[in-house]
Amino acid sequence: MSTEKRREDNSAHTGGATAPLLPEVFNPWTGWKYSQRYFEMLDKRKALPVWEKRCKFLRYLHDNQTVILVGEAGSGKSTQIPQFVLEANFLKKHSMVACTQPNRVAAMSVSRRVAEEMDVTIGEEVGYSIPFEDCSSPKTILKYLTECMLLREAMADPLLERYKVIILDEAHERTLDMDVLFGFLKVVLRNRPDLKLVIMSATLEAENFQEWFNGAPLMKVPGRLHPVEIFYTVHPERDYLEAAIRTVVHIHTREPPGGILVFLTGEEEIEDACRKITKEICNLGDQVGPTKVFPLYSSLPPAMQQEIFQPSPAPLNEDGSPGRKIVVSTNIAETSLTIDGIVYVIDPGFSEQYVYNPRIRVDSLLVSPISKASAHQRSGHAGRTQPGKCFRLYTERSFNNDLPQKYPEILRSNLATTVLTLKKLGIDDLVHFFLDPPAPETLMRALEVLHYLGALDDDGNLTKLGEIMSEFPLDPQMSKMLVVSAEFNCSNEILSISAMLSAPNCFVRPKEAKTAADEAKARSPSACHISYKVAVLTTDEDLSWCLENFLDERALKAADDVRQQLVRIMARLNLRLCSPDFNSPDYYVNIRKALLAGYFTQVAHLERTGHYLTMKETQVVHLHPSNCLEHKPEWVIYNEYVLTSRDFIRTVTDIRGEWLIDIAPHYYDLSNFPSCEAERVLRRLYRKREKDKQDTKNRK
Ligand code: CDP
Repeated sequence: MSTEKRREDNSAHTGGATAPLLPEVFNPWTGWKYSQRYFEMLDKRKALPVWEKRCKFLRYLHDNQTVILVGEAGSGKSTQIPQFVLEANFLKKHSMVACTQPNRVAAMSVSRRVAEEMDVTIGEEVGYSIPFEDCSSPKTILKYLTECMLLREAMADPLLERYKVIILDEAHERTLDMDVLFGFLKVVLRNRPDLKLVIMSATLEAENFQEWFNGAPLMKVPGRLHPVEIFYTVHPERDYLEAAIRTVVHIHTREPPGGILVFLTGEEEIEDACRKITKEICNLGDQVGPTKVFPLYSSLPPAMQQEIFQPSPAPLNEDGSPGRKIVVSTNIAETSLTIDGIVYVIDPGFSEQYVYNPRIRVDSLLVSPISKASAHQRSGHAGRTQPGKCFRLYTERSFNNDLPQKYPEILRSNLATTVLTLKKLGIDDLVHFFLDPPAPETLMRALEVLHYLGALDDDGNLTKLGEIMSEFPLDPQMSKMLVVSAEFNCSNEILSISAMLSAPNCFVRPKEAKTAADEAKARSPSACHISYKVAVLTTDEDLSWCLENFLDERALKAADDVRQQLVRIMARLNLRLCSPDFNSPDYYVNIRKALLAGYFTQVAHLERTGHYLTMKETQVVHLHPSNCLEHKPEWVIYNEYVLTSRDFIRTVTDIRGEWLIDIAPHYYDLSNFPSCEAERVLRRLYRKREKDKQDTKNRK
């Protein structure tokens, strides 16, 4: 029986939006008989709290253009609601349901789970789309995608006509892209009366959304969390990392079976904690059961991210102590992920956030205390499958009095990428577009940098260059560098560098061989950026080569995938792929000039005091210890500004002062420049260039 035929049969069965689902023997999406596993999963699905509200939800959706659904994490929103919509036959031929997720791990894991529940193959009827990976096909009717991917689709399809129902999941997280979608979909809904929107949230802040979406009805789903016992520390902990590790060991030695989820702040801290936990538990020998420790952070290669879904390890022998899985994660696991088997949560109360300071134009990664709402979300993980325990590594008094409000990301972010996206989507009124308008200074800074990059003209309209730049899922500086790289005859090299900077970190730095790893990285000629290029060019080499050079093979593979995607975009835009002659003395010069053409706003100058000062904002910065330069060049461009114990610049490349006035004279216009050593050097360079020009003219 054909799929089409079975689909018609199914609609006849359900007979409209409010009919209950009748389990059939045949899968209406594939035409195949359902597997045994389908029925097993169906029983579990039916026990989820959203199932009680299935008919009511479908009736609301039938009667309204927008519905807001609030339900605690684990109530079945992400997995069941999209299936209810599919089964209720809201779709017409060739239309689809989209369900957004706040990050790639969530998009991949929920879509896999739902494909299993629907008894279909992932990538066919149910698919996902995340930056640099599209796992969907013409057959796809339900697509889970990151919020930024839905915005990318809107660039080519401004009314999102391929979708009949759009579901915004985890709306309470208020990511930057979610806020853009709120503004954008409000416009789309006006122009597409046939489109339905579902907004799902785990917290009641959703009441704000009702007003924004013209009084859309709000439906609550009861929670089904098991009780979670909360423990606080008696005194504040001086070292939360050490306290977290101590608590893991305590749970493993004293508490009944059940997985542990530990929330830490960033990649380095998590990797360090994983090593220490493994070592400490190993030291306990056979007295305790085996453990598997999994790190989880957004830059971890996708295959490794999926490992957290593995079950706990089996006991070593028949009467041995039970095994335990331990997941050490950033706040990526806070709401959108369900990790089966977690019974204990350890919450030190911190997370790492990008915070943008428009005054000094710096995006920095800061470790800050989490909000009460986040603390609640975190503890909820302990009660998803059975009663659990949450260990908060701070005092109860701190919880009640000191935890800050949760701010939407838009109020603390650099908006350059967002403004470029909005311009491409044809949105000009940026002030009234947002539910919570960002600071005017932040918007101004975004418009200013896009103007310097040539993406906007003097009237703030998108230029041809800006249109092309907006096609790349990269930040505007990187897109600009890529688009103009052919002018420097090195687009192949810049593609590799962009791919590496967009993919997980490939440079491994094992504790026992830090120096050797640093030396391997420094073998590339005088630039961090260029070491990335060299790394990607060798992805075809064998594993031993990667090991020798301290490169992570999986991260290289991920970078190679990103590169191929970027190549496809370059080809679609007719951008030339070229390389300079490798033996030419200008080989690296060209690459460095192309880097500068994108990142001319991220330059630092070495002052006589021995410190670097960023241009224009004149902030004192230091080269990050991970950089691979052997000397301190007079001028550097940097990829990242990191604020930890000091102000660091990371991934730096040496450049020459002359290039600044050749490549970006509009930015290095000295009539509008703070007085500093760099300004005097540039003034000399301008004078020298004038003199050289005059001499050439005289000779003629
Ligand atoms: O969206 P919400 O947090 O309300 O719940 P959900 O993600 O739909 O999860 C409902 C249930 O599905 C969970 O409690 C898990 O039992 C299961 N699930 C899973 O096993 N694996 C996933 N990747 C997602 C959900």
